[in-house]
Amino acid sequence: MKNRRKAKILVVDDEENIRKSLKMILEYEGFSFIEAADGLEALDVIEETVGLDLVVLDVKLPGKDGLEVLAEMRKKPYTPEVIMISGHGTIKTAVEATKLGAFDFLEKPLHRERVLLCIRNALKQNKLLRECQDLRKKAEKRYELIGNHPSMKKLWEEMLRTAPTNATVLIYGESGTGKELIARAIHDHSLRVNERFVQVNCAAIPEELIESELFGHEKGAFTGATEKKLGKFEQADGGTIFLDEIGDMSLKTQSKVLRVLEEGEVQKVGSSKINKVDVRVIAATNKDLKKEKEEGNFREDLFFRLNVIPLYSPQLREKKEDIPLLVEYFSKNYSDENNFKVKKFSKDAIEAMIKYLWKGNVRELKNVVERLIIMTDADIIEKKDLPDQIRREINIYLPDSKDIKTLKEFRELAEKDFILAKLKENNWNISQTAREVSTPRSNLYKKLEHYGIKIEAGVGEAVAPSSLEKKGEESPNSKGQDGR
Ligand SMILES: Nc1ncnc2c1ncn2[C@@H]1O[C@H](COP(=O)(O)OP(=O)(O)OP(=O)(O)O)[C@@H](O)[C@H]1O
Ligand SMILES: [Mg+2]
Repeated sequence: MKNRRKAKILVVDDEENIRKSLKMILEYEGFSFIEAADGLEALDVIEETVGLDLVVLDVKLPGKDGLEVLAEMRKKPYTPEVIMISGHGTIKTAVEATKLGAFDFLEKPLHRERVLLCIRNALKQNKLLRECQDLRKKAEKRYELIGNHPSMKKLWEEMLRTAPTNATVLIYGESGTGKELIARAIHDHSLRVNERFVQVNCAAIPEELIESELFGHEKGAFTGATEKKLGKFEQADGGTIFLDEIGDMSLKTQSKVLRVLEEGEVQKVGSSKINKVDVRVIAATNKDLKKEKEEGNFREDLFFRLNVIPLYSPQLREKKEDIPLLVEYFSKNYSDENNFKVKKFSKDAIEAMIKYLWKGNVRELKNVVERLIIMTDADIIEKKDLPDQIRREINIYLPDSKDIKTLKEFRELAEKDFILAKLKENNWNISQTAREVSTPRSNLYKKLEHYGIKIEAGVGEAVAPSSLEKKGEESPNSKGQDGR
């Protein structure tokens, strides 16, 4: 019990003697004691007290009686545990109260040992309940799908539209884009939400085990099958099965999966019996299934059977506008998880993160944020704190193709960005930069002139029009600095 916060207990009784004796017992035992003399006062105290763990409540009270107080309390979520105190004539009511959610009841006259035992049990129960609620909240949080980008809005629309149906969904998209979150979100918004969501990672299960994993096996079906086993499809009966990495499934297993999809039938390995199952199938892959199909690695019929509702999980570099939101979200989560003050990211750190290409998508971003939250001391994470590859990333793909008409325009924009980035990396030293990009110094000078990039001696800064401005149009920024 060392270093623990004192449990807060409210005693509600109109008899002053009872309150006094309970105060003595409870404070002696190291609890924090609060009291109220009637039902209304009790409700006020309950409303006002933060972190109240337990209420010891007399059945018979002036004004609102104990049962009424209990009923009021139960209207709210996360209420403390309640122990009723009953006098001679109120035992029946106290028993009634336990049916309404009171933890237990104590009979007057109160006995110290019995009181303490009952209180300790109630507190234990309350602690477990809270832990359970916390865990549930954490679990829900873990699967939250964040994003405001139009591509995410479109995805949500599609998800919500298919969720209540039984249609098979195929989620495709690069690794780390959140395909698992999408699958869970569909299940959570479906009519099967109270049934199981069973996930099978088809790539992680060895070929010789996958059938028994999916369909189960009979005892003795093969060496090592010492017990009868229920397959994932049967476990998911009534609910949803998520076949992750379906592109990695062998042709043989594919044909069996097809049968479940078409007939709703499963057959255990080593059994001749066929069982009907009612399972919603969601599959995901980061492979190009169409190509796999053309190359003969994926059954065409299964592809069409899965591809009823294809949902695309966008790459992070397609929804860069969501990066600040995701950074803030992960930063808050990891700070909370580690009991840190929430850290912020500076503007240029966020800008660098927006420019970076995130080949590992949200998973990579999430890991970077976690590392930064743990490894950075300061409250604000600056660009200098970011991993090298993000700080240095030369984003030659940055120009938005919608704004560019010709190849020449694209090449020039990319070239200019590249030169600027390299100059910056080399502290605006032209000879060094020329060496690094393997071009003669004279050529680099020519390029600088062509793109209107000026480097002022002693300032250590280049003055250049912003990347989307055309050559020849000086930016207001460059004029300002010229004048210095
Ligand atoms: N939009 C998002 N909002 C919040 N977290 C996200 C989002 N997208 C991805 N994540 C997080 O990124 C990580 C990777 O997501 P997930 O496992 O769903 O990716 P995936 O597409 O299934 O990748 P893979 O193909 O490698 O299995 C997870 O920790 C997930 O919580
Ligand atoms: Mg996945």
